[in-house]
Amino acid sequence: MSTIPRGAAIVGWGKCLPPAVLTNADIATFLDTSDEWIASRTGIRERRVSHVPLGELMYVAAARALACAGVDGRTIELIVCGTTSYDDQAPNVASGIQRRIGAEGCAAMDVNTACTSFLYSLSTATAMIKSGVVKNALVTGGEVISPFIDWTDRNIAVLFGDGAAAVVLQATDREEGLLAEKLGCYGESREILRVHGMGAAYAHQNRVIGRTEWQFEGQEIFKKAVHGMALACGEALAKLGKTSAVVDLVVPHQANMRIIEAVARKTGVPMEKVFTNVHRYGNMSAATIPVALCEALEENRVKPGALLLMPSFGAGLTFTGHVVRWGERLTPLGTSPVELPDSNRSALDIITKYRAIKAA
Ligand code: UT7
Repeated sequence: MSTIPRGAAIVGWGKCLPPAVLTNADIATFLDTSDEWIASRTGIRERRVSHVPLGELMYVAAARALACAGVDGRTIELIVCGTTSYDDQAPNVASGIQRRIGAEGCAAMDVNTACTSFLYSLSTATAMIKSGVVKNALVTGGEVISPFIDWTDRNIAVLFGDGAAAVVLQATDREEGLLAEKLGCYGESREILRVHGMGAAYAHQNRVIGRTEWQFEGQEIFKKAVHGMALACGEALAKLGKTSAVVDLVVPHQANMRIIEAVARKTGVPMEKVFTNVHRYGNMSAATIPVALCEALEENRVKPGALLLMPSFGAGLTFTGHVVRWGERLTPLGTSPVELPDSNRSALDIITKYRAIKAA
């Protein structure tokens, strides 16, 4: 292979979903809402709540992705972790993954663009491989967002869930992996989704850091999200001289079924070519697309050489459209023995302490 490769192929993938399930009916035990309202407005039936920190979920996902790729973690040269939630502000989560996979001394960074963080991370890692800085990379997308939810606000509490997934990228001379993308942000709309109480700014406001209050204009987010994603998909495809007619499968950000349907309509792709799992997990922010990619592979929705389109949006308001060429292999080369620590705690039990922080 030449020094400067043509592509960064996705050669491994793995997901990690915490076991505790929070159903719509569970939420209706403490908020004025119903399964009917949530399912009809969002498509969500249930979501997961993590009993462990983000680093644990991402590590398990990473171990599975490495085993799938048949790659020894010690050979990884770059780790990019896409996330908005964090175990610690410092050090970052990527350095923890580096230590646990044994990739001593490799580059390790976190990327935060809210729900689009995995896609911005994929762009960053692919660009570094294509420019010859590194030959491979581990890219994760994950969130443990349940501690930051305002569990007294029905506008928010029904929408989000926890989870993580990872992919392994490898330099290749084939035209594979991320072929083209559009990354964007409507900064003038940054106030339509703002989580008060998550950062240092609140130390100056006599607020308790961790006691969150969400500024959230659902309908504005909806409109901007659809507009941004359709625009990004069009621009990314145009860079390749292609139209949506040649897309084999859309793997979109899973925030709301109605948003996904609107983007598919605007992009000119029939729903049969769109993968959805929002009913199972809700909006896992940075984790939605890599988890959906893993499940699309498990469910035989990805064919060898398929052209995939990945639209996403998040707070900022960031938006993206990625065009990915899949390789030939659809099955993992190996499996990992790594598992999450056992837990039989219910989701309602886990969120009890987060609800108490708000009430205090
Ligand atoms: O990654 C970014 C994540 N953000 C998003 O994905 C948000 C995008 N926006 C949306 O998904 C939708 O705007 C929502 C699902 C958030 C809301 O759907 P909507 O169709 O825009 O509903 P709405 O905000 O217009 O609310 C309709 C009614 C309101 O009652 P009134 O004022 O008509 O009496 C709300 O108070 O539904 C009420 N409502 C609820 N009712 C039961 C809001 N949340 C709930 C709830 N259960 N959980």
